[in-house]
Amino acid sequence: MEQTLVIIKPDAVKRKLIGKILQRYERAEFTIRAIKIIQLSENRAKEFYSVHQEKPFYNDLVAFMASGPCVPLIIEAEDAVMRNRELMGATNYKEAKEGTIRREFATSIQENCVHGSDSAENSHKEIRFFFTESELV
Ligand code: CMP
Repeated sequence: MEQTLVIIKPDAVKRKLIGKILQRYERAEFTIRAIKIIQLSENRAKEFYSVHQEKPFYNDLVAFMASGPCVPLIIEAEDAVMRNRELMGATNYKEAKEGTIRREFATSIQENCVHGSDSAENSHKEIRFFFTESELV
């Protein structure tokens, strides 16, 4: 079994899509191991996305991620990292496959409703960024 981190981003929370997105994960047989609703400060958003700090979209991304509440969650399944990336679809929703979360709900490359860790190594770091051991069931 593998765990990975998902963030339901501020655009999806504002649009009241938390329930619909969680339903996608449950339907796809992921187990939710931890979940919370928080608002990231600009500094925490900068830290989380620091790998993108040289990218032209970095400042906008940080402002967007700090613009309202988001919902980090830890999901578990076999091959969770890869299966989550399939379920989310491509970063650019226009390139995402039919039936994926981003294809169905995203409205722009930035406002793409969900984040998912891109590797097992990053999933450990990202899980630790949001959750302590005692918050996992
Ligand atoms: P995410 O998978 O969370 O990783 C980085 C985020 O940057 C991405 O989703 C988008 O929300 C945002 N972003 C904004 N513009 C771009 C872009 N041109 N390419 C990739 N990601 C972008």
